[in-house]
Amino acid sequence: ACGSGDKGSSKDTSTVEQVKEKKKLVIGTNAGYYPFEMIDKKGEMVGYDMDVAKAFAKTLGAEVEVKQYGFDSLIAALQAGKVDAVFAGMTITPERENAVDFGESYYKTGQSVMVKADSDAKTIEDIDKKGVKIAVQIGTTGSIVAKKVIKNAEVKEFDDFPTAAIASQQGQVDAVIYDEPAIKVYALQNEGKVKALKDLLATDSLGIAIKKDDKKMLDALNKFLKEYIGSDEEIATKKKWFED
Ligand code: ARG
Repeated sequence: ACGSGDKGSSKDTSTVEQVKEKKKLVIGTNAGYYPFEMIDKKGEMVGYDMDVAKAFAKTLGAEVEVKQYGFDSLIAALQAGKVDAVFAGMTITPERENAVDFGESYYKTGQSVMVKADSDAKTIEDIDKKGVKIAVQIGTTGSIVAKKVIKNAEVKEFDDFPTAAIASQQGQVDAVIYDEPAIKVYALQNEGKVKALKDLLATDSLGIAIKKDDKKMLDALNKFLKEYIGSDEEIATKKKWFED
């Protein structure tokens, strides 16, 4: 039956065929990464990634079904065949590339540091002190970077960005290290309460993840990206989510 998740009989077919047949592209994501994926007032998952997913699905004659996971469970969900692709602003890293394949990077960004609006800190060194707590999202590149560069402060892992951001506003943590777009959106919405430091700690090339060694799917994804990124439709989508 449709959506039963039984892929036992289709082990050797490409995800492309499976998606075309079920007319559904099942994507995995993790909400709270503004403006890529977030839950709106109606409880629907919206954002830049969701629009990209819809446009990709369209090229396969399919609709998008969204499944929410913890960020650190997305790769396992993909490997287990629970989702056809991961649209989660996921950074392409060598470690992840051992487990999944990525389409060509569709967005370049980096790791930003968010502090209280009244903080005097200018650089990461200014906050890397004993007794200081820095929040990250579990399983992210922000978490990896934090553990690498932070020598004296304590790095605390949170389930998602909104939880980490609220903890910083409430004073449970002193700073948040996370992808720049999400911090930008959050800082704008919470002006006067939080701000971002000027410099990024690292760069991230985001990619859409698919199951490993599915050449047909990878080709379909890259063909789509080549046509879509920079198209009028994509520029309008980007404008809608990043400039509003
Ligand atoms: N780019 C970062 C990473 O890959 C963070 C992405 C978080 N995405 C999300 N949907 N919560 O680790």
